[in-house]
Amino acid sequence: MSVLSEIEPLKQAALAELQAAHDLAALDQAKGKWIGPQGRFTALFKQLAQLPKDQRPEAGKALNAAKTELETLWASRREELELKAALPREQIDFTAPGRRRLLGKLHPLTQVTEDIVRSFRKIGFAVADGPEIEDEYHCFDALNTPADHPARDTQDTFYVDLPPAPPRPPLSPSNRWLLRTHTSSVQVRVMEQYPPPIRIVVPGRVFRRDNADATHNPTFHQIEGLYVDHDVTVGDLKGTVEFVFKEVLGEDVRIRFRPHYFSYTEPSFEIDFSNPLVRKMGKEWLEIAGCGMVHPAVFENVGYDPEEWTGWAFGFGIERIAMLRYGINDIRLFYENDLRFLRQF
Ligand code: DAH
Repeated sequence: MSVLSEIEPLKQAALAELQAAHDLAALDQAKGKWIGPQGRFTALFKQLAQLPKDQRPEAGKALNAAKTELETLWASRREELELKAALPREQIDFTAPGRRRLLGKLHPLTQVTEDIVRSFRKIGFAVADGPEIEDEYHCFDALNTPADHPARDTQDTFYVDLPPAPPRPPLSPSNRWLLRTHTSSVQVRVMEQYPPPIRIVVPGRVFRRDNADATHNPTFHQIEGLYVDHDVTVGDLKGTVEFVFKEVLGEDVRIRFRPHYFSYTEPSFEIDFSNPLVRKMGKEWLEIAGCGMVHPAVFENVGYDPEEWTGWAFGFGIERIAMLRYGINDIRLFYENDLRFLRQF
């Protein structure tokens, strides 16, 4: 049978079903059966190609006309059925109280970040920013972490397949792009751009090649701090950190510094944190941040004279702090965008 002779009977059958659909669901179904992408009427279009060339224009024209007819009927039936589905005017209670629209709010991680930043601003820190796609030089080499340094293993990341950044010999002769593993790279960028004194915090997103579990996610957030001036001491560092933690997490917070190693600070410490919530988790102390006095090699790399300038730096994980503040036990909850979770903050 030729396409041409099939058009009319199929069209009639389709029109009848569209006309007979008594609600929107039935109409949708009829549409799918006849004129949807897999519809029986739609199938005729695919047969056009098999017709002898001289018959194609006529058949094509007839098909298109029939299709328009079907679509027009579908659209008008849809309008009728939608009207039928709406509540009749006399059943609408215009005096009923309005429905309150749900107001959006800031994500808990944003709230915590803003609180930390607000606290640092009170004591004279400015906010700085840097790129998430970073080069090896700023992420590692300038921070005294050469390619063969073991710290590179614990901060493995995603390398970006772009032409390399301008080389920085002798430290980074081939300067690949990567997703930054920490906000510490911004220390370098800021010091390259501004002369001392410096007093900044850097909130931002960071990336690691970690598998997600209750305490890890390949994407997370940090806040970095950098303070450079004459005669800066570990005492300043400790006082500052204590001030901010008490503001953000409450007066009953205790912190302690424990000796540690970072290649860009000397001496280096990990900051442990204690409050009633940590003790409820059955621990006395929880490690929460890294910090230390800026290493002279880092100052040299950015062109500061290490004989003249002193400074400290730190990096906290923002998720960690938010988990402690709200008693959250799984980091993945922050990224699922489940409203039942988010509405609680
Ligand atoms: N960058 C470190 C990390 O991601 C944290 C850190 C440690 C930052 C010591 C610092 C620092 O600025 O001085 O684990």
